[in-house]
Amino acid sequence: MSGPGDKLQTREFRRVVECVKILLAQHDGKQSLIGMDYFSNREYLGAYLLYQWVIHYQEGMSLLGELPTTPKRALDVCSGPSPLGFAALRHGVSEAFAADKNQAAMELGAEICGRFGLPLSVRRWNCLKEPLPIEGHFDLITLGYALPELFPNSEKGWQEKQDRFIDYLLQKLTSRGYLVLVESSFAEDNQRILSLRDRLVKAGVPIQAPCIWRGECPALKTANSPCYAQRDMEKPHLIKEIQRSAGINLSSLKMSYLIIRSPKAPQLNLPDEKLYRIISPPVESYQGKRFYLCGIDGKKTLGSHFEEQPDEARAFNYLKRGELVSIDNALEQQGSMEIVEGTTLKVQAACGKPVEEIAT
Ligand SMILES: C[S@@+](CC[C@H](N)C(=O)[O-])C[C@H]1O[C@@H](n2cnc3c(N)ncnc32)[C@H](O)[C@@H]1O
Repeated sequence: MSGPGDKLQTREFRRVVECVKILLAQHDGKQSLIGMDYFSNREYLGAYLLYQWVIHYQEGMSLLGELPTTPKRALDVCSGPSPLGFAALRHGVSEAFAADKNQAAMELGAEICGRFGLPLSVRRWNCLKEPLPIEGHFDLITLGYALPELFPNSEKGWQEKQDRFIDYLLQKLTSRGYLVLVESSFAEDNQRILSLRDRLVKAGVPIQAPCIWRGECPALKTANSPCYAQRDMEKPHLIKEIQRSAGINLSSLKMSYLIIRSPKAPQLNLPDEKLYRIISPPVESYQGKRFYLCGIDGKKTLGSHFEEQPDEARAFNYLKRGELVSIDNALEQQGSMEIVEGTTLKVQAACGKPVEEIAT
């Protein structure tokens, strides 16, 4: 884009806002840019870098924090300008590749990484047509915001094709590797991720996060009941300005995600406690504040008999969607749990932190 290096002119800013809106329409079911190589348009690419890139990078930073180890060799598939590749590098991976059909987008991503002294190698790859042009296996593969574009659900057989692609990526992992999938929190994208999770769980592939429950996803059994993650969002000035002008009402990061272990890895060895993931913000009900949880014994709700929480359950005051908690001695009736005298509630993994496993 033209204009001074550090500030957008009013005309440029307006154009960025228009492009951000068009790019976002892709993810709200309108699919306006599906099938197009939109990053060959410099305006779209520039707008993406100024808005979506910043958000996806923050999402990547939080999600990669949930990995129990720092991966060594990473691959960002359908990377675009590689916000997830940059997040992987900032998490300390030693070697990172980006692969996408659009060279210009990857090169901009590599330039950003380079400015931080972090090398990102780029490889042009049409992942629907060619085998991966990089040898070897990876400790981390990321795939962000690309599945609906690669496998539109309007196309016949999309699910089988998507399954084959995911299996192909899983085969490219080292035995201690992870595949991280991120999509939007919109209903269709959310269902895609939850259904994929069900398929993988059924096939015995270990899920690292967010699901502790190993049965069929309860969210898929109830209509209009999405299950997505939420994280705090940092809002640099330009992001606030773009949101204000584009009428985007988004105050936190919201995304559907899955962290999948290599199919060669064992299942998680979880402590012998009642563990649950908080899957909703606090919901006000006639019984006071409640949360939805999903854990080793399925979907539950949690409330409290107290206005002032006892010390062992004080965490109830501060619970956040995405945290992993253990609950002991709650009063339980038909899926609804209450904090009573003697209940212990502990946060076992904060958002963006790994689950502690029992060493074997
Ligand atoms: C919405 S962007 C996501 C970019 C990045 N992963 C992120 O999280 O911001 C989708 C990317 O998928 C790439 N893509 C779409 N179809 C592809 C294909 N068949 N092979 C490789 N890349 C593809 C596009 O070029 C684009 O960079």
